[in-house]
Amino acid sequence: MFVEGVKIEIVPLEFKNGKIRFIDVTKLPEELVYVETDNVERLAKAIERMEIRGAPAIGVAAALGLAMVAYNSKAKTYSKLAKELYAAAERLRKTRPTAYNLFWAINRIIKKFNELKNKPLDIIKSEIVREALSMQLEDIKNNISIGKHGASLLKDGDTVLTHCNTGSLATAGYGTALGIIRYAYHVQKKKIKVIATETRPLLQGARLTAWELVREKIPATLVTDNMVGYVMSKGMVTKVIVGADRILLDGRVANKIGTYSIAVLAKHHNIPFYIAAPTSTIDPKSKEIPIEHRKPEEVKTVLGKIATAPREIEVLNPAFDITPPELITAIITEKGIARPP
Ligand code: MRU
Repeated sequence: MFVEGVKIEIVPLEFKNGKIRFIDVTKLPEELVYVETDNVERLAKAIERMEIRGAPAIGVAAALGLAMVAYNSKAKTYSKLAKELYAAAERLRKTRPTAYNLFWAINRIIKKFNELKNKPLDIIKSEIVREALSMQLEDIKNNISIGKHGASLLKDGDTVLTHCNTGSLATAGYGTALGIIRYAYHVQKKKIKVIATETRPLLQGARLTAWELVREKIPATLVTDNMVGYVMSKGMVTKVIVGADRILLDGRVANKIGTYSIAVLAKHHNIPFYIAAPTSTIDPKSKEIPIEHRKPEEVKTVLGKIATAPREIEVLNPAFDITPPELITAIITEKGIARPP
């Protein structure tokens, strides 16, 4: 598929005839598995188990999930449909607490639903589906704009370090930080290279970013998270670009655990540190960011398969950390590049 003349190679979420088809990213890089469901509980579980993950992808999945509920509803009154939609929205809101896009997407669909109150039920249902589908397309278009703006910061010879996975698999398609890399390399033909961190504990960098980069033949090297200081001190990194799960108005950014350490190292080594995210990641109200803490097993094993620590050991497993604005060179959104005042 092409959007605004740009090829979208991987579309991780699709809505068709009342069903959602998604790529279960926990199976990558070994297998490319698609799952189909018309059940909102199954979708909520997919987000919790991180079969669908990445802030924009979670948001689009929730919007499509509510569209799925509306499309399949047998409700004969507005209030019955409202009950079904609100219950689904409440369940989806409980899946993951940090990514703001989830709440943004649910609120947008519910707002649309409320605006349609006086319309016939079949119109309401089809308008909800239309809204969710347009949010999906908007996300891809926003990624391409982020790609264009961000790529203007890159030049031949740059090596960009990125963390976690911010690519097609983390969005409706194309990607944010990885979208910039994709745009610079494939559209603008810039001679850039990538260093991808493996991103413990769930290895989104090793399993997903490396998979996307290899698939698209973008020159890339994988490093473990604790090699970031080494590669920076050797002059091997010229820019850092990462994504975001929530951005506060004071400029603090929550992103995958490890982002803060990378930002501190980038500051020490005088390397520009960029955040790339759509404006749907910006939380206009909160003063603090809820940080998700996940199961200890994720740290004590490799992907639940091989034990790497004694079972009895205490574990800390925050999924995100917060980077303060003084460590951020600029934030790249679909609207442009925002630098600190
Ligand atoms: O826990 P995950 O894999 O959902 O965390 C994802 C990240 O931290 C990404 O950097 C962020 O969501 C941006 S994805 C475009």
